[in-house]
Amino acid sequence: MKSAKDYLIFALDVPSIKDAQYYVKALAGHVAMFKVGLELFIRSGPDIVSLIKERSEAGVFLDLKLHDISATVKRSMNVIADLGVALTTVHCGESFQMLESAVSGSQGKVGVLGVTLLTSISVQDISQAGFEGRYVQNLQKLVMKRASMAQKAGCSGVVCSGLEVAEIKKRFGKSFLAVTPGIRPSWDCDEKDDQKRVVTPATAVANGADFIVVGRPIRDARRPADAAKKIVDEIASFPGDNQL
Ligand code: C5P
Repeated sequence: MKSAKDYLIFALDVPSIKDAQYYVKALAGHVAMFKVGLELFIRSGPDIVSLIKERSEAGVFLDLKLHDISATVKRSMNVIADLGVALTTVHCGESFQMLESAVSGSQGKVGVLGVTLLTSISVQDISQAGFEGRYVQNLQKLVMKRASMAQKAGCSGVVCSGLEVAEIKKRFGKSFLAVTPGIRPSWDCDEKDDQKRVVTPATAVANGADFIVVGRPIRDARRPADAAKKIVDEIASFPGDNQL
């Protein structure tokens, strides 16, 4: 049975392997996975994946958000597939073929998630980027279109905001994973930073998220393990049919 802790992914958004070591040690028993993003992976390469596996029971989410010609995406996925990570990401972007290549490159060894629309993106951003009016008026339409592409291409699920997760589950089914960043606990909701479409941990899980990704509210807390525990408690105290 899934416990409240099994929903929590900590974003290891730190500049060095030394910083990462501190957070892996502090949070090893408190999270389901550690997410390694571009900053840390560019610095440390696959060593960070080995370190997490050696020092914790947690899984690794390698969030590199691939976006390139499909041949390059497929070759990159081949390499990721050999790292022994649980999840990784590709931008849904504009190419169905790129998504298919990501999935075939993964060889079934890693779950491929399509990034639908970054939670830092607002209506203004989409409008400036030249999207059609119907998508500017309703970001959810764009998210659903991209999620549908990801599912047809064979992705294991998507990264989406907590605002869209209920609709994603309704349209694409329970087994299509929904991983939700843009999380701000009620005690930290003044600190939205660059995130625009945010929800609380409990709301995201109640809406159907399989995992929530939390970075700064834990990383920048005086005691990161206490912040993680507080988030897990908040999830546990919120009765919903997707949890516990
Ligand atoms: O610090 P914060 O909790 O905002 O961290 C969010 C993390 O989730 C970052 O590592 C960011 O790369 C990632 N992310 C996101 N929005 C997406 C996909 C991933 O914010 N759509």
